[in-house]
Amino acid sequence: MTAPEIVTLPRLAAMKKEGRKIAAMTAYDASFARAMDEAGMDVILVGDSLGHVIQGRTSTVPVTLDDMAYHTHCVARVVNRALLMADLPFLSFQGSADRVLDDAGVLMRAGAHMVKGEGAGPFAANAAYLAARGVPVCGHIGLTPQFVHSLGGYRVQGRGHAGARLLSEAKELADAGVSLLVLEAVPAALAAQISAAVAVPTIGIGAGPSCDGQVLVMHDALGMGARRPRFVRDFLAGRDSIAAAFAAYIDAVRQGAFPSADESYGE
Ligand code: KIV
Repeated sequence: MTAPEIVTLPRLAAMKKEGRKIAAMTAYDASFARAMDEAGMDVILVGDSLGHVIQGRTSTVPVTLDDMAYHTHCVARVVNRALLMADLPFLSFQGSADRVLDDAGVLMRAGAHMVKGEGAGPFAANAAYLAARGVPVCGHIGLTPQFVHSLGGYRVQGRGHAGARLLSEAKELADAGVSLLVLEAVPAALAAQISAAVAVPTIGIGAGPSCDGQVLVMHDALGMGARRPRFVRDFLAGRDSIAAAFAAYIDAVRQGAFPSADESYGE
């Protein structure tokens, strides 16, 4: 038996250069994470979306560092191949350098290979601070669910004049040293422009087909989401197992067959 090929950040960077798409999905426990890893998922995200899909909350704001560490531990025990990313909770990436460093340390010790923080602007300095200390960081801009109360809801971001701001945030985070960048709920044309402008791989969710990779919340990809935004596809429909659904998702992302234009946002 040969050892599984491990997904690393240099490998993801090479995938972008070679035009090979990156498949990512959220997981929160060992059983689903194992199935995803065995199916060949490139990146597994322990997302703070667990506030919705595991805890039944209406936002990710109440999710704690302890919650994130617990679920990261559960997933890390079984992941052998994928790169494992964990979300910094609300007011961590947006907090002081000491706070974000301590929190990132907890998640890395729980088994994460990198952490993800929402927002840009004043928080880009925290990305640089972590990256300089050996903590790989994934940025997250566009619809940043931790800001739901300031944004006034879960809405498409970056339409019209706001597009220029998102493009400059992406460049700023890339300059600060993020290794990946999640683009959530932004027009497909803007996501294409951002993906061409930054050297780091972009991972889209509701950001059209031109991102370097795609991520979905696992429950949405299995047709179990409470809502069904247009960028969600049910990969379990017509298939007889969760393993087959994960394999179909990975294949659709790699072939560039997901998302379609109908599953993307226009200007
Ligand atoms: O928490 C999460 O699941 C996420 C994805 C939506 C990217 O951040």
